[in-house]
Amino acid sequence: MTKGGFIQRDRAWHPPAYTPGYKTSVTRAPGRPLISMPTTLSEETGPVFGRDMLGPRDNDLILNFARDGEAAIGERIIVHGRVTDEHGRGVPNALIEVWQANAGGRYRHRKDGYLAPLDPNFGGCGRMVTDAEGRYEFRTVKPGPYPWPNGVNDWRPSHIHFSLFGSGFAQRLISQMYFEGDPLIWQCPIVRTIPSDAAVERLIAAQDMTATIPMDALAYRFDIVLRGRRQTLFETRKEGL
Ligand SMILES: [Fe+2]
Repeated sequence: MTKGGFIQRDRAWHPPAYTPGYKTSVTRAPGRPLISMPTTLSEETGPVFGRDMLGPRDNDLILNFARDGEAAIGERIIVHGRVTDEHGRGVPNALIEVWQANAGGRYRHRKDGYLAPLDPNFGGCGRMVTDAEGRYEFRTVKPGPYPWPNGVNDWRPSHIHFSLFGSGFAQRLISQMYFEGDPLIWQCPIVRTIPSDAAVERLIAAQDMTATIPMDALAYRFDIVLRGRRQTLFETRKEGL
């Protein structure tokens, strides 16, 4: 079923809003049924971002907050992948913003009081725009796991937060990337709100030896699928979406 210019989200694939095992979802979840509204043309075609708004180090978290001649501490990694729509077509000019804890598991945020120290050379944020084929790449240090006040002893697996703007606001996506082989993934109350193991697997980046830089950085590949434009056009729809 289509809605406006985009295929509707499959709500059985995404986690439900109300999941008491993830404590704060209880107060965040809507208390009333959702209202379905048609998208507008501006939501289907914008916002649009360009490369000219980016700085040269925006996709280099190892250096973009570091003092001259210094660098962030931690396992040096490259994260790369491709952003596609539901039909496998690359989404060009998608704005990707990422944020993460440092190698010790501490965020540069005034509400983060975890024991691990801040790294004076690590800010924890970056951004980039996908190329013509939908590809992206950034350099960072692997974030550490951290405990959080949910249950008695809950830990977040190492993860990187992602925010994406695709070709239209209806493709907006906020998600988290995990790292292959991390045993904490399957114990995490936030991950466990996801209904199927197959959906969880899609959030786990695979170690990619083909993209490593020898004697420098390991690499992980994380492909992202945004809700796609419908394959068959309505002939009555002159906008051509
Ligand atoms: Fe986080």
